[in-house]
Amino acid sequence: MKGLIFIALLGCFVQTGFATGGLNGLPILNGPINPVGNIFGAKSRVGQFIHPGLWHTHDDLERIRLGVTNGLDPWKTAFVNFSTDSFSQASYEMQGPTTILCRGPCSNYSSFTNDVRAAYQNALMWYITGNQSHWDRSTTILDAWGSNLTDIIGTDTSLLVGLEGDMFVNAAEIMRWEGNWVEQGAHASGGSGFSNQLYWLFARQSIIIGQANYGMISIKALLSFAVYLDDVSMVSLSFINETVSAKIKKYNYALNAYQNDLCAGLFGNYESETGQGAETGRDQGHALAGLGWTALAARVVQSQGVDIYSLGDNLLLNASEYSANYNLGNDVPYDPKFYRCEAILINGPWSAPSNISRGIAQGPAVWDIIYYQYVIKRGLDAPWTTKAKQAYDASGGEQHVTGSSSADQPSWGDLLWSYPGKGDFINDNERTIWGGGKIGANGTGNYNSA
Ligand SMILES: *[C@@H]1O[C@H](CO)[C@@H](O)[C@H](O)[C@H]1NC(C)=O
Ligand SMILES: *[C@@H]1O[C@H](CO)[C@@H](O)[C@H](O)[C@H]1NC(C)=O
Ligand SMILES: *[C@@H]1O[C@H](CO)[C@@H](O)[C@H](O)[C@H]1NC(C)=O
Ligand SMILES: *[C@@H]1O[C@H](CO)[C@@H](O)[C@H](O)[C@H]1NC(C)=O
Ligand SMILES: *[C@@H]1O[C@H](CO)[C@@H](O)[C@H](O)[C@H]1NC(C)=O
Ligand SMILES: *[C@@H]1O[C@H](CO)[C@@H](O)[C@H](O)[C@H]1NC(C)=O
Ligand SMILES: *[C@@H]1O[C@H](CO)[C@@H](O)[C@H](O)[C@H]1NC(C)=O
Ligand SMILES: *[C@@H]1O[C@H](CO)[C@@H](O)[C@H](O)[C@H]1NC(C)=O
Repeated sequence: MKGLIFIALLGCFVQTGFATGGLNGLPILNGPINPVGNIFGAKSRVGQFIHPGLWHTHDDLERIRLGVTNGLDPWKTAFVNFSTDSFSQASYEMQGPTTILCRGPCSNYSSFTNDVRAAYQNALMWYITGNQSHWDRSTTILDAWGSNLTDIIGTDTSLLVGLEGDMFVNAAEIMRWEGNWVEQGAHASGGSGFSNQLYWLFARQSIIIGQANYGMISIKALLSFAVYLDDVSMVSLSFINETVSAKIKKYNYALNAYQNDLCAGLFGNYESETGQGAETGRDQGHALAGLGWTALAARVVQSQGVDIYSLGDNLLLNASEYSANYNLGNDVPYDPKFYRCEAILINGPWSAPSNISRGIAQGPAVWDIIYYQYVIKRGLDAPWTTKAKQAYDASGGEQHVTGSSSADQPSWGDLLWSYPGKGDFINDNERTIWGGGKIGANGTGNYNSA
């Protein structure tokens, strides 16, 4: 009943045309958004968010920086290629901004993909080296796109938002909380710029969670957006009325979807007993990429102090083992009754694992985040994932092809995700919750305050 009322109210909203910049031409939020009950890891108030707290906490960034500056591996070696990559240069020439991007049949978003990667890699370069020129490059890209891009159109809008958008907000989180960046256009009487764009154009677009790997992209991005925006509740809907909006908790909504969405969540994507992927019969590119997105979702939640990597008896690791094994050329058990929702849209369901794009070397860069989390940090046995990482490393490691910027996976896994050995690596909340530094005019940020 509540859901129906909610849809009707949104209908009113659409008809009155009470739209804010960035909504033109976008698919309209069309619910229903189910109220989320008590779920594992839920937050109950804004002050519980940890910053920086998307893919990297302060302690994570320090681990990277200290690894590089103290000449420790794998950080030191990984940094060689990372720091010479074109997207890591302060001299990177911005390709945007533009006002409208399309992903779908009319795809024309590569300038954004490139600039997003440059913003993210320059944010990391700044953190690691402390060189101001990288601070400038990252933040000018954030501000330029943040204040110029007003629309994203096309049938795959939610992919652009969930892939490029997520990497972009990860750059922003580092620059804001560590770098004391205050975005262009921020002011008390209703700002404009990056966070307004994030709120209207990115976050709202991810609410409609699709299926399988596609749905997991929205879930992992929503988690990042919600943390950046400190969005326990979906305040963007507060124009409807507080009773309704209080039921819609964006962070909790995404966390719930990860745990309970039967099409897009962990258990919809991976078979509980065998780890078979819901897209194993489709092609290996999608089957593997989904592992990376599931791991990134869990990474954000880990940054927020909650472990969902271990859900389902380490189901993600089990899923990684299954796909690694198959892509290393071995036979795996296959249940044709376990497949993704709406499989018919993509010529499914399937009677056997697909051979399309099968293999490790050319596949998406998903192994490091899983390997370091489970095998190194937790000391768990994962022979196939370990072999997959080794095979990937043998063909050049997790780095994107020079000059190619895809935001599908972050790449650079040895630099970004490694741990020195087994341990809890709990964030020191004195330094991570609301920073050890000051944000805002004349603040110092959190950089190296440890
Ligand atoms: C992308 O395509 C859309 C639709 O044709 C168009 O409105 C937009 O201006 C294009 N953007 C770029 C950067 O080419
Ligand atoms: C900072 O980076 C810029 C651009 O790469 C470089 O020219 C400059 O020498 C660097 N500064 C220091 C102190 O390393
Ligand atoms: C748009 O991008 C340009 C070029 O980077 C920048 O100078 C400008 O401040 C941005 N914002 C607006 C609102 O034009
Ligand atoms: C808010 O909307 C809900 C659902 O339509 C309704 O039950 C409730 O009475 C409204 N609350 C207020 C304060 O208007
Ligand atoms: C997944 O876990 C189940 C139960 O522990 C086990 O039987 C199965 O072999 C595992 N699958 C893989 C691929 O590791
Ligand atoms: C995949 O390749 C193997 C080995 O060539 C073959 O046995 C199997 O039938 C192929 N699977 C599909 C779905 O074509
Ligand atoms: C660095 O890049 C080169 C050229 O692509 C590659 O051969 C090498 O394996 C890379 N090194 C590492 C540590 O990834
Ligand atoms: C920041 O510093 C400037 C220049 O020293 C000063 O004018 C301004 O009042 C300071 N702002 C705040 C919020 O302290």
